[in-house]
Amino acid sequence: MTRHFLRDDDLSPADQKAVLELALAFQEDRQVRTPLAGPRAVAIIFDKPTLRTQVSFCTGVAELGGFPLVVDGNLAQIGTRESIADTARVLGRQVAAVVWRTGAQTRIEELAAHAGVPVVNALTDEFHPCQILADLATVARHRGGVDALAGLTLAFVGDGANNMAHSYLLGGATAGMHVRVGAPEGYWPDEAVVADAQRVAASTGGSVTVVASRDEAVAGADVVATDTWVSMGQEGQAAERETPFVPFRLDAAALALAAPGAQVLHCLPAYRGKEITADVLDGPQSVVWDEAEFRLHAQKALLTFLLGAQA
Ligand code: NVA
Repeated sequence: MTRHFLRDDDLSPADQKAVLELALAFQEDRQVRTPLAGPRAVAIIFDKPTLRTQVSFCTGVAELGGFPLVVDGNLAQIGTRESIADTARVLGRQVAAVVWRTGAQTRIEELAAHAGVPVVNALTDEFHPCQILADLATVARHRGGVDALAGLTLAFVGDGANNMAHSYLLGGATAGMHVRVGAPEGYWPDEAVVADAQRVAASTGGSVTVVASRDEAVAGADVVATDTWVSMGQEGQAAERETPFVPFRLDAAALALAAPGAQVLHCLPAYRGKEITADVLDGPQSVVWDEAEFRLHAQKALLTFLLGAQA
């Protein structure tokens, strides 16, 4: 059966736990498995800018014994020069899996419907599920293991309508966490995603809350996260996407309201002085460099899991 990872809830709570356990194992021993030995190729396609994602997927595929084949989305022109469905059919005849960073979620859904091999979302406008796996593995590493995640409160403050907010809602709920989003009105998460996260949370013992107050969101939280106010593709709205978010900046005053020793997450790139202050990003509670490292381990674990289901 072909399994895809297009959004966080494509992994059941048990699947997610297995992937996170394997991610922690990969951090301890980078060569434990080589499911791509051959080597088999994985197509890694970028329609948007990338650094961490390209490096971590290429390194990860290589460490799994495979061949990372980076495809420039500007050259491929998927959906313009060739339909998404035809592109999927061509790729699926040649590579073991497809990793794609693109715009609308509907694009990657269409690719997955026709590829016949696992398709992984490396960020869309709506979701960034690989990042949340890395974030959860990072928190698990700092708190004694994957079982420690359930029951923790994770607060995300800033742009509640972006891919990171949506993925924290779904991925955090899958892990049994209490996910709080603090965002200005008008920048709240998609209602359908909130409803889906609430459904997942009901089965895992987690919960989902959206509030228009930074301080309410972070009060007592065990993990505090933020992200840029201007996501890729929104560069033209940079001026208007500042004032509403200033009260949601993750600064020392906000962090002081969180639980003592709360971890600080940021998917990066970070804009010091905008969504997060330098003292918080570079301070002792920040685990952002571990988080960046865990992209590698988490994606290796995810690919191993998906390829195992394919076999
Ligand atoms: N929300 C950000 C995440 C970057 C990793 C963006 O989409 O640009």
